[in-house]
Amino acid sequence: MKRLAVILLCLTVSSTLFAQSDNAYHLLPFPAQFVGKDGHFTVSAATRVVIAAKDAGQRAAAQTLVSQLKLASGFPVAVAPATPALTKGKHIVFQAHKAGRCGPEGYILNATPDRVVVEAETPKGYFYAVQTLLQLLPTAVFSPTKVENVAWTIPACQILDRPRYPYRGLMLDVSRHFMPVSFVKRFIDLMAMHKFNTFHWHLTDDQGWRIEIKKYPRLTQIGSKRRETVVGHNAANYPFQYDGKEYGGFYTQEQIRDVIRYAAARHVTIIPEIEMPGHALAALASYPEFSCDASKKYDVATRWGIFKDVYCPNEQTFTFLQNVLTEVMALFPGKYIHIGGDECPKDAWKASAFCQDLIKKLKLKDEHELQSYFIQRIEKFVNSKGRAIIGWDEILEGGLAPNATVMSWRGTEGGLEAARQKHNVVMTPGEFCYLDQYQGNPAQEPLAGGGYMPIEKVYSYEPTPAELTPEQQKYILGVQGNIWTEYIPTTQHVEYMAFPRASALAEIGWMPQGPRNFEDFAMRLKEHLKRLGYLNVNYSKRLLDVRAVTQFTDADQLQVRLEKLDSDSKIYYTTNGKQPTTASTEYTTPITLKKTTTIKAVTTAGASFEETFYIHRAKGKPYTYANTAAEKSDPTRKKLTDGQVAQSPRNKSEWVSVSGDDLEVTIDLGEVRPVTKVSANFLKRISYNDFPPSSVEIGLSQDGTTYKDAISQPVKYPLEGSWGMLPVVADFKTARARYVRIKAKNAGVAPAGLPREGLPTAVSVDEVVVE
Ligand code: ACM
Repeated sequence: MKRLAVILLCLTVSSTLFAQSDNAYHLLPFPAQFVGKDGHFTVSAATRVVIAAKDAGQRAAAQTLVSQLKLASGFPVAVAPATPALTKGKHIVFQAHKAGRCGPEGYILNATPDRVVVEAETPKGYFYAVQTLLQLLPTAVFSPTKVENVAWTIPACQILDRPRYPYRGLMLDVSRHFMPVSFVKRFIDLMAMHKFNTFHWHLTDDQGWRIEIKKYPRLTQIGSKRRETVVGHNAANYPFQYDGKEYGGFYTQEQIRDVIRYAAARHVTIIPEIEMPGHALAALASYPEFSCDASKKYDVATRWGIFKDVYCPNEQTFTFLQNVLTEVMALFPGKYIHIGGDECPKDAWKASAFCQDLIKKLKLKDEHELQSYFIQRIEKFVNSKGRAIIGWDEILEGGLAPNATVMSWRGTEGGLEAARQKHNVVMTPGEFCYLDQYQGNPAQEPLAGGGYMPIEKVYSYEPTPAELTPEQQKYILGVQGNIWTEYIPTTQHVEYMAFPRASALAEIGWMPQGPRNFEDFAMRLKEHLKRLGYLNVNYSKRLLDVRAVTQFTDADQLQVRLEKLDSDSKIYYTTNGKQPTTASTEYTTPITLKKTTTIKAVTTAGASFEETFYIHRAKGKPYTYANTAAEKSDPTRKKLTDGQVAQSPRNKSEWVSVSGDDLEVTIDLGEVRPVTKVSANFLKRISYNDFPPSSVEIGLSQDGTTYKDAISQPVKYPLEGSWGMLPVVADFKTARARYVRIKAKNAGVAPAGLPREGLPTAVSVDEVVVE
């Protein structure tokens, strides 16, 4: 199964939502209530931004508008205190809203040819109104330098806008790769323009401690540096390969204060995350006494993953963490402190006499309840300082701390459970919100963590689960996108992974669910990308990609439709392996393939496309597995015969995988047919226990009972080396069969000395090609 698997997109690009005039409104996120009108307000050198002189919120927001307008237009647009004449003139007028319709973050914007009136109840409301005004202006308003020959107009409209959710966040991991202050500020700017209001700063983890703590200088002297970094994907090599280069970085408290001020001016609250009790290696490398075995030497982690060495729940650790949190709370003024809580293996606690005694003394059931005790103690401390904790959904295990907010990341189950327990929830499920996943073909994209999450998938996310009652739904505070940076070493790459998928999440967090639809979003996004372009954001252009939609015409023919989201570009393609140009065939109608073919295409929007379509006898045919583990990995029972062959070991979800068991599958060709050859690829990722099978038997049958002509072969490969795909081919020459059965023998548990020694290995396969 391949990632581009056929997401049907309605490609009719119509006018923007609710537009009732000829004006185009490329607002993103789109407002809650919007009415388009005829005509324009024209900004000129004489335009003033009129405010109540004493209103600091109006002044700050007006200043933001004026600075940008001046830069791009060159007009001497200025902020002016209100006078009766100015307020009635052709100006942009800010006014306090008194009727309570805006709420803490909303605003009202009325643009007519005569005047633009902005109303809000809070500084944040004015700030968001300005973000909308900038998007109503020509896109060139985002230019950092003067742009000539632009009509600086604001299309007439009526907006009453307020967000759907009070929490709209992005998380940035600066532990795996450090991001400088200048970039963090730029990131906050980009968040603010999308009306995100929360920046979750992942400051500590196994691979680096990034925040200065005065009382514990070794956290940054030692904990902020790692000796070297694993090369490539964590699963790419056995043994692991390292770059031999020291890596480090941290923020001083002065820098943190500076970032907090900067964010506050843009109405972004920062939630700092201090991970505990797991993901603590950088701290333990600095202070081994806070582990369960102080005699051991701990190193800041040099590769990715989950590590067994974690904080020990003893008094000196609690004193340390409370001292750290005291300094953190002195810096960060927001309500929430994120205390991590995810992925804490219990091995060290199981092996520790102290922990086992503590479990008995506290009358706890197990180590999960010990983790719960840990988190509850920390919560009590944080609450005593007037703050609240947020934790990843593992904090539900062993009992939730009384006032904790839960970040649901392992799917939505944690969020559902927390809401049922009347706890606040931030939804950030991996399937829709992890921006470190692939957004295009994994074989062609920069290396990523794994998983395929194109922008249309992100946009399809609905954060409020229908399973909850209306009362329980109120606990869903909002939605967050996470940028984990194991495979994102540079700021440019952060931008590439974040945008425009974060733009999709911004709209999910802001816009009412009802009128949201992807085609309309995509059209507005195309213009929005130009804004990001003016801001020099290294956004992904995957939105402009050609996508293939396939359909069988008869048993051995395939019809391929090439689609794209923008209506104003053209596609040119080849089927002979040559690189296409605008002199190649222009795509106008679906391409019919009679044999395995590689289609290559380019578009005039600059996208390129390449995909091989496999026409074979088993294509589209049904099959059954001999065990349920395989069925789980392939619930729609289509992956193995869909004609789309996994092209790299990068994204495991392209593969059908069975852990700890053999893989046996039987394909039904529907009738007895000639079969000359059967082939399949098996996945090799030794560091992650994806072992090719020890042997493969491929058999043919006419009745589904008697298998003749079985070809059995051992699969030989070295454990050492890089990940890859191992082809297994059975040549039958002139056989006839209705059923094709493949039995792939599991390689058993991983041998000693391997990263996951003693644990079951998995057999993974994709596309059984029958010729
Ligand atoms: C997480 O992704 N470990 C929260």
